[in-house]
Amino acid sequence: MLNNISFSLTNKCNSRCRICNIWKTKSFEDEMSVPDIKHLFEHKCFSQVDTISLTGGEPFLRKDIIDVVYGLKESMPNLQRLFLNTNATNIPKIVQVCKISSNLFNSVILSVSLDGEKEIHDRLRGIKNYDNVISLLKVMQQLPEINLSVSMTLSQENTNLKNLKHVKNIAENNNAMFNFRFADKSSTYYKNMDLDLSVTENQKKQVSDFIIANCSDNAFLMCLKQFIDTGNLDLLIQNGKNKCLAGKKFVFIHPNGVISPCLYSTQHIAPDDLLSKAPIVIGTDTPCPCCTDCVIYPMLEELQKSR
Ligand SMILES: C[S@@+](CC[C@H](N)C(=O)[O-])C[C@H]1O[C@@H](n2cnc3c(N)ncnc32)[C@H](O)[C@@H]1O
Ligand code: SF4
Ligand code: SF4
Repeated sequence: MLNNISFSLTNKCNSRCRICNIWKTKSFEDEMSVPDIKHLFEHKCFSQVDTISLTGGEPFLRKDIIDVVYGLKESMPNLQRLFLNTNATNIPKIVQVCKISSNLFNSVILSVSLDGEKEIHDRLRGIKNYDNVISLLKVMQQLPEINLSVSMTLSQENTNLKNLKHVKNIAENNNAMFNFRFADKSSTYYKNMDLDLSVTENQKKQVSDFIIANCSDNAFLMCLKQFIDTGNLDLLIQNGKNKCLAGKKFVFIHPNGVISPCLYSTQHIAPDDLLSKAPIVIGTDTPCPCCTDCVIYPMLEELQKSR
């Protein structure tokens, strides 16, 4: 049963990240309006959705983001948990949306991107925005009803102990959860198939050791460790069979309303197909399994339920 959605609200972005080409998008005419969004999510296939993650682009660049949030809540009555992902560039807007959302949802999680120490973060993001991230985390201390998460994406230049420890400390000092993942390629979402995102075996080992030494209580990061160490994930692939529930339990929705099983998939699914029992074609750019939080969290929840 579909209960978890990642929805990219817009491809507009005011950063210039090295690992993600979304900011290079030039045309936005096909992005859904609030009435389009409400119309899409009123479809019966979304009636049991309880968790939505709003991403982008930079979702807070949408002037109508508050109407979007109200529209989503109206369309999907079972919605209880809202994740908001941000690059921290528009603090007043983020605070405003968090305050409103905390009255609408049982749980609101604000995930703020931070990729390392100031110099490397600003270099990787292509704009000077480390100070904004720190200011946002401070401001958010006034809103204890919002759960905070600091989210780091690892690539060649920031995969080292110094940056990992730095971001972990920032998270801890601001009462935030701490998560990271390796940068990946996606032709339809990050649009970055042209980039070299490879890290060395030594960097991978450092990350694996860091996880076991510092984050063994984090179920997602323990999955990442298994993925680094073995190239496999028991949660998604067992005996060579794909158990991933992309397209069944969770989907990824692009700003124009195209529904895909996951952010690596090039397939489109019609809402009616989400109600049918017929198998869903996944069609990904890279071989399964992947290891990214938006995929692993729903799968971990499913595992918990089945126990
Ligand atoms: C695409 S961004 C959208 C939200 C917002 N613009 C931000 O940067 O947080 C969502 C998350 O994806 C991460 N990300 C960017 N490029 C990535 C890549 N190539 N592989 C994996 N994650 C990536 C970002 O660091 C961020 O944490
Ligand atoms: S990671 Fe976020 S901030 Fe950076 S280019 Fe992609 S969408 Fe924009
Ligand atoms: S790429 Fe990841 S989320 Fe997508 S189907 Fe494969 S394992 Fe599942």
